[in-house]
Amino acid sequence: MTTYNLAVIPGPGIGAEVVPEAIRVLESTGLTFDCRYFEVGFEVWKKTGSPVPSNVLEGIKETQACLFGATTTPVGVPGYKSAIITLRTALGLYANVRPAKSYPNQKGMKGVDLVIVRENTEGMYSGMEFALPDSAYTIRKITRKATERIAKFAFELAMNRRKKVTVVTKANVLRLTDGLFLEVSEKVAKDYPDVEVEEAFVDVTAMRLILKPEIFDVIVTSNLFGDILSDESAGLVGGLGLAPSANIGTDYALFEPVHGSAPRLAGKRIANPMAAILASKMMLDYFGEKSWADRIESSIIKVLKEGKVLTPDLGGYSSTSQVTDAIIDAL
Ligand code: NAI
Ligand code: MG
Repeated sequence: MTTYNLAVIPGPGIGAEVVPEAIRVLESTGLTFDCRYFEVGFEVWKKTGSPVPSNVLEGIKETQACLFGATTTPVGVPGYKSAIITLRTALGLYANVRPAKSYPNQKGMKGVDLVIVRENTEGMYSGMEFALPDSAYTIRKITRKATERIAKFAFELAMNRRKKVTVVTKANVLRLTDGLFLEVSEKVAKDYPDVEVEEAFVDVTAMRLILKPEIFDVIVTSNLFGDILSDESAGLVGGLGLAPSANIGTDYALFEPVHGSAPRLAGKRIANPMAAILASKMMLDYFGEKSWADRIESSIIKVLKEGKVLTPDLGGYSSTSQVTDAIIDAL
């Protein structure tokens, strides 16, 4: 039987509490995993001068995929670059995939089942900034190559879903950069005649997500817009305790809950493990283990429906590990 080689980076705070729970769920399937644990981030940077030292990066590259908990990024430390951003760049993880789905027994809207595909490598987050004495500038980089890659990814994904892609830009104002994003997306769309394509401006999309989220299937957009719209979408369906994400490249992928280390929650053992478990479910989808992926999701749905074993963020009184136990029982 196949053994999947995983890099596991739990990280600080609740990352270290929820990642072992996701591993527990993975190991209770019939599949086998060989896990190698790594440390990255601020503490590593203080010791080595790099948030992801090259030997750590090489070790991670020897695995097939990474399960990541969280990092803590201190604000205003000169010279420090976030470990997760460093990893996304170093591993070429160009697609940030963030599903937002209505599950039973959660706060939030019903009938939502959408995925935001965010370009992860350029746009407003290209890292090209400079300042003059009384002004400052950020360069918004959009390339044909990266846009083609992300658009293809979005259309391929839509083919396995409800076959609709919304291309989100602000091309009426950002005429050159989003003009290119739109032009390239339209060209890619021609290869997918079965997929319905819709073009929308980001401001209108932000509003429609609140009024009519059920109309969306796959949304593809540039880095900053995707960052904002995906947090908005997570908020629509009950918040961070249930929000997973994937960072996918040509030959590697990293899966993580959307939430961070939540320092105020850390140590209380009541963080919701479902976001991390759903991230591991996305990893099984990536490996082509669809039936186990579906079973993990169904087990979470069962636990949510019963509503008896839930962490406080979902209105319950159970601990992190009690919720995981209930999911494993359902599995
Ligand atoms: P956060 O996502 O860590 O937590 C925000 C709030 O959401 C928490 O206070 C908690 O009330 C709630 N929450 C989050 N996850 C939960 C869970 N699993 N169960 C129950 N409630 C949950 O965001 P925050 O507080 O802004 O950032 C804390 C640290 O995490 C910062 O250092 C930040 O840089 C880092 N961070 C890292 C991310 C990553 O590694 N990808 C993503 C977001 C933040
Ligand atoms: Mg964000």
